[in-house]
Amino acid sequence: MRKPLMAGNWKMHKTIPEAVAMVKELKSKIADVKDVEVLICPAFTALYSLANEAKGSNIKIGAQNLFWEPKGAFTGEIAANMVTDAGCSYVIIGHSERRQYFGETDETVNKRIKAALNAGLIPIVCVGETLNERESNVTFKVIEKQVRDGIKELTAEESAKIVIAYEPVWAIGTGKTATPDQAQEVHAFIRKVYSEMYGSAAEGTRILYGGSVKPDNVAELMKKEDIDGGLVGGASLEAASFEKLVKFGK
Ligand code: 13P
Repeated sequence: MRKPLMAGNWKMHKTIPEAVAMVKELKSKIADVKDVEVLICPAFTALYSLANEAKGSNIKIGAQNLFWEPKGAFTGEIAANMVTDAGCSYVIIGHSERRQYFGETDETVNKRIKAALNAGLIPIVCVGETLNERESNVTFKVIEKQVRDGIKELTAEESAKIVIAYEPVWAIGTGKTATPDQAQEVHAFIRKVYSEMYGSAAEGTRILYGGSVKPDNVAELMKKEDIDGGLVGGASLEAASFEKLVKFGK
């Protein structure tokens, strides 16, 4: 009932020609995939070209961030309608790298989510604990706060559109994946918290896992009941490896 979503977060990688070349290659490799939604989130500069390249294919394009104001004197920022204008249907919000390096908080996450929804974008909202938090046994407390404060005050209709990504900070780019059981435990917890907030909408909410997802561990992760896809950094940068992720390791 929840269609899996495999999303590549390219972070600050690839020029426009590099990005277009990879999507061209990926398009033909996954042309027959219908039961998994495929999304690529490149840097802002490549959005428009990639959306054009992906037109008519089964690849969707998303941004990695946006600013909540609709327009104005905000040098260096990008508004939600500019993201849709570039051809996006999704946007990543609150990635841990934004929380760590750029001052993102649950409050700003909430503002960005609302702006994204108003513009017709589907937000992928990232949550996750640091290594220190996991070792201090506060993982669930941290995640609950990020979900409750970050994704608050939505209408029923809006709450049903959100995608949540669980990305333990200690697993990002480190080669240390959460075990499928560790991930499932947190995913089930996130669904429980979200159902307390928004009722039955939570059953349909896709919860992605992110953090060193690779072709050789994706199948085991995807077998878990509450893991509905992946948000992938490193392994999404090459067409051959992203193809394997979309096909759950095959
Ligand atoms: P890696 O897959 O490189 O660990 O990155 C995960 C991530 O941060 C995706 O948003």
